[in-house]
Amino acid sequence: MGKQREVKLGAMLLGVGRGTSTWRHPDAQPDASVNPGIYKSWVWKAEEGKLDFIFIADGLYIEEKSIPHLLNRFEPLTLLSALASASERIGLVGTLSTTYSEPFTAARQLASLDMLSGGRAGWNVVTSPLDSTSLNFGNRRQEHPEHNLRYEIAAEFLQVVRGLWDSWEDDAFVRDRSSGVFFDPSKMHTLNHQGRFFTVKGPLNVARSKQGHPVIFQAGSSDAGRNLAAQEAEAIFTGIEHETLEEAVAFYQDIKGRITAHGRNPDDVLVFPAIAPILGQTRDAAERIYEEVANLVTIDKALDYLGRLFEHHDFSSYALDEFFPELGELGRNGFQAMTDRIKREAREKGQTLREVAIQVATPRGAFVIGTPEDIADRIQERFEAGAADGFVLGPVTPRGLEDFVDCVVPILRRRGLFRSEYESDTLRGNLGLPIPANRHARMLVTPANIFSE
Ligand SMILES: Cc1cc2nc3c(=O)[nH]c(=O)nc-3n(C[C@H](O)[C@H](O)[C@H](O)COP(=O)(O)O)c2cc1C
Repeated sequence: MGKQREVKLGAMLLGVGRGTSTWRHPDAQPDASVNPGIYKSWVWKAEEGKLDFIFIADGLYIEEKSIPHLLNRFEPLTLLSALASASERIGLVGTLSTTYSEPFTAARQLASLDMLSGGRAGWNVVTSPLDSTSLNFGNRRQEHPEHNLRYEIAAEFLQVVRGLWDSWEDDAFVRDRSSGVFFDPSKMHTLNHQGRFFTVKGPLNVARSKQGHPVIFQAGSSDAGRNLAAQEAEAIFTGIEHETLEEAVAFYQDIKGRITAHGRNPDDVLVFPAIAPILGQTRDAAERIYEEVANLVTIDKALDYLGRLFEHHDFSSYALDEFFPELGELGRNGFQAMTDRIKREAREKGQTLREVAIQVATPRGAFVIGTPEDIADRIQERFEAGAADGFVLGPVTPRGLEDFVDCVVPILRRRGLFRSEYESDTLRGNLGLPIPANRHARMLVTPANIFSE
């Protein structure tokens, strides 16, 4: 009998925490975003739970009103390189922007992380939503490219990176002291890419890792985002905009349909919605924890948080208890999928600015508030209903990861939904994703295919 399909789990490590005010919680360590010791303890906890991967988000522009975690934090690939040596099996997924990076450097950094970690790297491909990011990259980009153009750049960027990752066939490095042959030149491949956005000769100065290529994650849920995911991604990270089961199933089916339309096997691309649990030993205790976290958020901070999603728009000049203002196209060039939804819901529900700001900053409906069984039920329900292949845990409270590993993971295990041991020592191996063949490798001639000719 085949093994029951198991859920895949990642954990977002969020330094001083999500949102504007979690850093003030008594259990929080206020310097966590730049504290290597805390990150290490989180990786150990996640690995103890046999989670598939940790996940580090990123951004490239801050201002005074940015949330605390964004103001002072580690660059993801640097952090993950340090965490690679503090862990053995867990995947290491880092965010890197295709709008504000060079493909050669990105390919090299990611391949290095992959090699350093023995094939555990993943790349969260993002296009950078914030307009003002271009102000930090004046020589590279005079203006922030518009939303769909950013995805066109991302598609070519990925082609280049993938091409560079195949620069060396797996047996290219002979390293034969006696003959003096270090490598076989027929197994080194120069990319010579000349495209609309990038010109890159190659080859890359680092070979493939044990898992072939880092696993490509994509985050972005607009039409253009979904198409890029369907074409290029191997794992899709979606936000908490799909609150209802029906919405989550519809998203999953839409994505899997697009993958099939691109001629790819839908089983080779995993869908990971975010899950943000608030966990208590009783439902009342969980509610109290939610109140504790929510009460830390003042209305001013909630307005700042909302403002960031709309190109750092200043919402403090509007009347708080009047209808959410008409914003026209604002937000569409950045967090398009998210801001479209906020505007639509505010209109449909007749919400005031205060209600919208509080809902966005402390999104009750997006959290799963309850006992460990309640959280496990939600995961099981969405997994079995065909809304997810796995989940990325976004801890809401400072103890969120610890509580999840200690209390929810054992329940998932008892239900046969989650592993007790890692299957593999690579991220691909644990996620059940195939190793991409090197595009240049000659087909091996085996007795089987000689006879079949
Ligand atoms: C779940 C999720 C996580 C994201 N994480 C990041 C991130 O860490 N850094 C970043 O610059 N953008 C991040 N993004 C933004 C996307 O890359 C994209 O620019 C943005 O969502 C707008 O595209 P969309 O309208 O297709 O969603 C994330 C988006 C989603 C939905």
